[in-house]
Amino acid sequence: MATGFVPRPVPAIDRLRAYDPGHDLPALRARFGDDRLAELGSNESPFGPSPRVLAALAQVDPATLLRYPDPLGLGLRTAIASTTGVAPDEVVLGNGSHELLMLLGQCFAGPGDEVVFSEFGFAVFAIAAAAVGATPVQVPALSRAARMPRGHDLEAIAAAVGPRTRLVYLANPNNPTGTTFARADLERLLARIPADVPVVVDEAYAEYVEDPAVGSALVLRDRHPNLVVTRTFSKAHGLAGLRVGHAIADRAVVDVVNRLRESFNVNAVALKLAEAALADPGHVARVREATRRGREALAGELTAMGLFVHPSSTNFLLVDFDRDAALVEAALLARGVVVRPMGGYGLPTCLRISTGTARDHERLLAALAEALA
Ligand SMILES: Cc1ncc(COP(=O)(O)O)c(C=O)c1O
Repeated sequence: MATGFVPRPVPAIDRLRAYDPGHDLPALRARFGDDRLAELGSNESPFGPSPRVLAALAQVDPATLLRYPDPLGLGLRTAIASTTGVAPDEVVLGNGSHELLMLLGQCFAGPGDEVVFSEFGFAVFAIAAAAVGATPVQVPALSRAARMPRGHDLEAIAAAVGPRTRLVYLANPNNPTGTTFARADLERLLARIPADVPVVVDEAYAEYVEDPAVGSALVLRDRHPNLVVTRTFSKAHGLAGLRVGHAIADRAVVDVVNRLRESFNVNAVALKLAEAALADPGHVARVREATRRGREALAGELTAMGLFVHPSSTNFLLVDFDRDAALVEAALLARGVVVRPMGGYGLPTCLRISTGTARDHERLLAALAEALA
C-alpha cells in the first residue's frame, strides 16, 4: 500500500545499492520442483554438512529453542580456537561472515575515511564501505582484459593505502574471480601498510585451496596484529543455511567488534551444529577432493564448448562467454538452471557457476548446449 511516506535514511544508506542475493529461489523451487532445478548460483556445497552435524541436529533438545543462545558462543569459539591454534578471545562469531565484514566496516571506517579493496573483489566490501559513508577505493585488478586473471593486484593495493585509509579488504580466494594470492605477496603488502590499519583477509573459500604457497593468512598474525581473518561455515562445511562465520583477530580488535555485535547474533542451534562440523575435518577433506574433481570435470566440459573458464581454487567457476552473458543466463534460468550473472561486478560477458552434483552439471551442460545453439 503506497502511503506517500517518504523515508529519509542517512545519506550513506540513501545512496546504498543493496547486496544482490540472486533470484527468488523459493519461487523457482515452486515453479520447477526441487528435483528439476539446478541451483548453481550461490556457491553452496552440494555435499551438505557432515553426518556428525546431522546427528547433532537430531539430538537438539527442544529446550534449546526457548532460551537465548550463549551470547559469548564460548563452546564454538573454543573449538575454532583449538583447530586454528589461537586463543578463544581472538575469535568473534558472526551471523555468517557477511555480518562480520559489515561490522568491521562500521567499527573502523566512517565519513571521510577510505576503505581499500580490489576491483572484482567480493561485493560486500564496497557495500560495507558505502554503508558507513566512507570513500571506497577500488584498486584495478591485475588485469581487465578478457581471458586474463582478474585477481587482486597487491602491489597496487599497497600503493593505494594512504593517510586516510582506515581499512583494507582482501579475499583469498576471491569471489567471483576464483583467484588467490600467495602468502609471500601478502607479507610484502602487510609490510607496506601502517600497523594501525586493519587488513581483513576474507578466507570464505580457504578450505578448497590446495596450493601450499597460498595457505592461510593466520600464520602471519604474530608479526601483523592488524590482520583480521574471516572464515565461514557456509561453503566447505555445507552449512550456508545456518548462518555462522567467524573472524580471528587481535584481542583488541575482537573487543571493538564485540561492542557493536548483537549479543545473540548466532542462534543456539547454529552454535551446536557448527561445533559438530568442526569435529569432522575428514568431511571437509572429502568435500575438497570431490569439489576439485567436479570443478575440473566441469571446467573441461565448458572449455570443450569453446568457453573461457578462469582457473579457480574454489567451488565455483567464472566463465567468460565473449558476449553479453545476460541472455545466456536468462536462457539457463528458463531451463531451471540458476547461475549468477556478473554484470554488477563489471563482468557482463561472464557468469559465475557454482560446482554442483554430477546431475546438476549434466543439467547445466544440456541447458547450455541449447542456450548457445
Ligand atoms: C568471498 C566471500 N566472503 C564472504 C561470504 C559470505 O558468506 P557467509 O555470510 O555465508 O559466511 C561469501 C558468500 O558467498 C563470499 O563469497
